[in-house]
Amino acid sequence: MGAREIVVREGGPRDLGTLEVLESQYSRRLLKGGGEAAAANVRRGVREHYRRAMADTAQVVLVAERGGRVLGFLHATREEGPGDLVRAPWCCLAILVVDRAARHRGIGTVLVRAAEAWAARGRMTALQLGVHEFNRGAIRFYERLGYRPVMRLMQKSPRAR
Ligand SMILES: CC(C)(COP(=O)(O)OP(=O)(O)OC[C@H]1O[C@@H](n2cnc3c(N)ncnc32)[C@H](O)[C@@H]1OP(=O)(O)O)[C@@H](O)C(=O)NCCC(=O)NCCS
Repeated sequence: MGAREIVVREGGPRDLGTLEVLESQYSRRLLKGGGEAAAANVRRGVREHYRRAMADTAQVVLVAERGGRVLGFLHATREEGPGDLVRAPWCCLAILVVDRAARHRGIGTVLVRAAEAWAARGRMTALQLGVHEFNRGAIRFYERLGYRPVMRLMQKSPRAR
């Protein structure tokens, strides 16, 4: 394997520590003022969450590594219930994170393509994901890969006019 070649494989228990670090890069941005205790709870929960996912054949945790270092991961699930605008079974892209220092080198793309191959092998009808409106870079990334918006989640405070 060349040092710069990106390899995608299924994640295992030895990857849990790296997944935790990568997920915290993303969740730190989303968690507003959770404090240290909240952050520690999130970290413990993350390990258990992915340990279970790895042991479940209806879920996949894919990791991308280069030169033996895990630089990104993707977690997808096979959904058997009727989805919004999709027939079952469909594939939910639950989370995708690439290490901040390794972005814009094609790692995210390779992970999404591998999840699409997993969904195709499992005869799933579609892949679906949620992305925050403020995450403009991720929206552009998914659109470039062929994903199109089908629904908008809207929000308002009951006290606002
Ligand atoms: C969104 C995310 C996963 C993309 O990962 P990535 O590895 O940077 O993705 P890629 O490198 O495949 O593509 C990103 C961009 O780099 C460009 N790119 C890809 N390979 C490249 C290369 N070799 N050289 C230069 N640019 C390249 C792509 O054209 C793409 O451009 P875009 O900004 O128009 O989409 C990453 O930014 C991330 O982890 N963000 C934080 C978590 C997050 O928001 N996740 C999504 C919500 S669940």
